[in-house]
Amino acid sequence: MGTAAVTIHADEPIGIIRPELHGHFLEHLGSATYGGIWVGKDSPVPNYGGLRAAAIDYLRPLRIPVLRWPGGCFADDDHWRDGIGPAGARPRRVNRWWGGTVEGNSFGTHEFMELCKLLGARPYLAGNIGSGSPGELRDWVEYCNYPFGSTLADERMANGAPGPFGVRYWGIGNESWGCGGHLNPEEYCALYSRFATYVPEFGGISPFLVAVGPESNDLSWTRRFFEAFRTTRKYHAPLHGFAMHHYFWGKSKPTDYSRETLGHQLEQCKVLEQGIIEQRKLLDSFATDPKIGRVHLLLDEWGTWDVSDEPTEQRQGKFWQQNTMRDALAAGLTLNLFHRHADKLSMGNLAQLVNVLQALLLTDNEQCVRTPTYFAFVLAMRHRGNTSVRTEFPEPLSCSASLSTREIVLTAVNPDPDHPADLHCVLDGITITRAEGRILHHADWNAWNSFDDPEAITPSALPVTSTEASLAFPLPPLSVATIVAVRKSS
Ligand code: AHR
Repeated sequence: MGTAAVTIHADEPIGIIRPELHGHFLEHLGSATYGGIWVGKDSPVPNYGGLRAAAIDYLRPLRIPVLRWPGGCFADDDHWRDGIGPAGARPRRVNRWWGGTVEGNSFGTHEFMELCKLLGARPYLAGNIGSGSPGELRDWVEYCNYPFGSTLADERMANGAPGPFGVRYWGIGNESWGCGGHLNPEEYCALYSRFATYVPEFGGISPFLVAVGPESNDLSWTRRFFEAFRTTRKYHAPLHGFAMHHYFWGKSKPTDYSRETLGHQLEQCKVLEQGIIEQRKLLDSFATDPKIGRVHLLLDEWGTWDVSDEPTEQRQGKFWQQNTMRDALAAGLTLNLFHRHADKLSMGNLAQLVNVLQALLLTDNEQCVRTPTYFAFVLAMRHRGNTSVRTEFPEPLSCSASLSTREIVLTAVNPDPDHPADLHCVLDGITITRAEGRILHHADWNAWNSFDDPEAITPSALPVTSTEASLAFPLPPLSVATIVAVRKSS
């Protein structure tokens, strides 16, 4: 690749990078919840009230902004009342979607809220519209958000939470075009309107309501949903977010990627970006209705989905997926594109937090390790709350840049397995005094952090040469780097 010319246009703002773009997702699936984040209070695995201590200790520094739960497909078969009250008295239910396992509901609303509290994350609850009722969802909102004095609020208090949980993000179903009811867009729109009507403001928390968006870039789902929604305009229910799901389907098992299958999977990050461009354009075409014009685009499930390694899944749980340098590249590319669309995208939730698909952490009995994906998120953290600005960069590199009052932050990804790049970055409209960088890199895209070698892939210092108006640094093949430069005060 040789020299790669990049330009950061500091005077071309895109939008604020909401911290929620770095959000996560936890489902009752495989060993994500049970055995992963939740080991139970009596477990020999060190825990904080049943939550795996090592996982909490690793996740806390990530300052996870928002965590979606309890599904996924599970959400539309979950009844929140099953997961409250004395743990021993909770019903045992068959997890209809994920392997028919019997779960005792020991991880319910209070345990999830405790997890969010320990992590400092905002809860995002996915409501059951597939097999639940509007009344059931409405009562969950009251149980969570009403301060005191109603029967449901008093029940919450009796169950150990004196104060309201203050849940703002509510999903109205999940993948209603698939596991969430196999509905067509018009049917879903009618159901959305009915359920959303009964998710009111309680305790001063104005709910942010999220409708089920398309599978990947299904434009027909979006068009038909909003056409139906618009026709009920005079009375239509509140709607704040519209959530796509997009997985990067792989053609190999997690640690068996070839050059070709690596390229195929990472190409899908570009397919996602094209999808976001087309979806937002379509949303904007409905903007003559101001309520629809203000709807945010979300991606509340995304990540790599590799060919199943069945013996491993049988041992470790469904969709337990080893996480490699390739996953870190997919995360770096995706977070960059989120930043570049910060004016329309307001949340992204990686699937999933622990042990399932593109996980931040992997566990095995008492062991717990941070994956390369975890570190790609660490490298992106400095962008949160900053103003994203336009960048120009050559393919196949990917960049995003942002500004705070003190700093300029640049993340650059080189997904090319063979060619290093010498990145030369011109700062247009801004000057700096000094810069430093961190890089995540491994020469083998199939390499991972094992329990025996947990820091095989972790960020290290990256030498950066800077002038007042430029940055230069090497970007080896298969790397994610973040540079932080201090702005010169004017
Ligand atoms: O993340 C795993 C599953 O993928 C979710 O339950 C579902 O929403 C999606 O199809």
